[in-house]
Amino acid sequence: MDRYNSDDSKKAAGEKAVDYVKDGMVIGLGTGSTAKYFIERLAKRIQEESLDLTAIPTSVASENLAKRLGVKVSNLSEHPAIDLDVDGADEVDPKYNLIKGGGGAHTREKIVASASKEFIVIVDEAKLVNRLGNFPVAVEVIPFAEGYVMKEIEGLGGIAKKRAGFVSDNGNVVLDARFNIVDPIRLEKDMNEIPGVVENGIFAKRRPEKVIVGVGKKTKTLERE
Ligand code: 5RP
Repeated sequence: MDRYNSDDSKKAAGEKAVDYVKDGMVIGLGTGSTAKYFIERLAKRIQEESLDLTAIPTSVASENLAKRLGVKVSNLSEHPAIDLDVDGADEVDPKYNLIKGGGGAHTREKIVASASKEFIVIVDEAKLVNRLGNFPVAVEVIPFAEGYVMKEIEGLGGIAKKRAGFVSDNGNVVLDARFNIVDPIRLEKDMNEIPGVVENGIFAKRRPEKVIVGVGKKTKTLERE
């Protein structure tokens, strides 16, 4: 059980991240229930302060929300370099390696994080773990390759299960793979080398510079050295 209501913590973390936004920036919009609080507060700041911001969403859901709230949305073709990306995570380890993809949006999320000068992750305290792997790793796969990729994941020591009834924004299936994760960088690379894998939800190559942790209605900000 969380010591605090995790929704309060998500809201606190999401809203705090808006403090790092400056006028004129190109901003990556993450996906999920924590990122939603960021987008909502961001939209308020844009209105209140007449900010000129351009947002690059990581999912159709975040794009729809942003548009509905009047946030100007663009894409990576127009803006291949992003100033700041703010996104949630499913697990964060002490070295700031992440598991993402609980919402199945990790492919676009990793592209946007990689294209960003600064990457801030917003989480509730329950997402901080000593070691990654309690949460399954999402693996986006071209449907044709599903059976083969499952077998190859077994070869890497994992157990994969297809996410039922789910199709990614890119039209692919997602497998959720359980691993005993010893070396996140290696596992991220090994999985991405399987033909048919589009992207997996380990973020060890592109880690966040900051993690904003919601603790009840307060936050603490962790910065990578
Ligand atoms: C979506 C993600 C989300 O950021 C992650 O699942 C966290 O979601 P939430 O903020 O709803 O707990 O990676 O693909």
